[in-house]
Amino acid sequence: MKKIAILTSGGDAQGMNTAIRAVAKTAMFKGWEVYGIRRGYKGMLEDDIYKMTPLDVSNIADKGGTILKTARLPEFKDPKVRALAAENLKKRGIDSLVTIGGDGSYHGAYYLNIEHGIQTVGLPGTIDNDIAGTDFTIGFYTALNIVIDAISKLRDTAQSHDRTILVEVMGRNCGDIALNACIAGGANGVIIPEMPYKIEAIEEIIRKRREEGKNFDVIVVSEGVKEGTQEIARQLKERNPKLDVKVTTLGHIQRGGSPTAFDRLLATRLGVAAVNLIEKNEADGVMLGIEKTLVVTHKLQYAWENYEKKDQKFYEIAMMLSI
Ligand code: ADP
Ligand code: F6P
Repeated sequence: MKKIAILTSGGDAQGMNTAIRAVAKTAMFKGWEVYGIRRGYKGMLEDDIYKMTPLDVSNIADKGGTILKTARLPEFKDPKVRALAAENLKKRGIDSLVTIGGDGSYHGAYYLNIEHGIQTVGLPGTIDNDIAGTDFTIGFYTALNIVIDAISKLRDTAQSHDRTILVEVMGRNCGDIALNACIAGGANGVIIPEMPYKIEAIEEIIRKRREEGKNFDVIVVSEGVKEGTQEIARQLKERNPKLDVKVTTLGHIQRGGSPTAFDRLLATRLGVAAVNLIEKNEADGVMLGIEKTLVVTHKLQYAWENYEKKDQKFYEIAMMLSI
């Protein structure tokens, strides 16, 4: 009988609970023991590990957040800290770990595998969509829906007041939330860290919109843009004092709420696949993702070694439709 552990790490994302449920139920179905580690690598180090029951994963598929809680533990970069944490798995006979998180969390899983021989599978749980080896991360589409809903609401008030609203969205250094939200939400311009920032490009959109009698704008700014949203607002006002510019930062609201059907299905497919890999002894530091609708497996390091910059064409489409 196998003993496996599950943890969630880094920023929480909608669908993490769905993934926990899929892993736990699949493993329990096979008769395995399943352990939950609270607060990611912090709980692994502090021995906050418990044996999960079917009741623990009942009625959680549609819940935001993570029942296992999450945390960041920068000290996990230290091999001595990882050795202490790994000991807490080994003493229970746990030899396999499913880590649900972003590429930082994948690094932790990578080292546990190469240094301590623990079978590790990474599932991409982050709203940022900043992991190579998967077209989409668990949580990304739910966050995107929250952002496009906010864009619609901001458009209502921007139009009433003839305003330019800059809406700052999350994503860390990845502009995927901003770019996709601009297109799906019909916003009027997008500024992302992967593309050079040119205030003239935004001014040109605003100018053309005014020419067409459109007296308001909602522009999406990714938090990773180094100039910062407030500074961009200041520059816009300085260059055109007639503009009434406001900034709205969406913040952590983007990480909450019930996962969409897409995220639930993605989390479930990847969760089931993780257990199947462990069963076949093919979980030697690997990650799971979805590419062209199919579940795929890569080595964990693929996630950070192959991260690509944005598709220039997609960005150009966003800007063209912004007018
Ligand atoms: P995410 O997993 O969403 O990218 P973080 O980058 O904050 O989030 O990483 C989550 C946790 O993963 C960190 O707090 C740390 O415990 C662990 N981690 C991150 N980078 C490394 C690394 N280079 N080596 C070992 N562990 C790491
Ligand atoms: O990685 C997910 C994310 O929400 C990023 O988009 C954001 O930069 C960061 O986490 C915020 O982290 P915290 O929850 O620590 O404020």
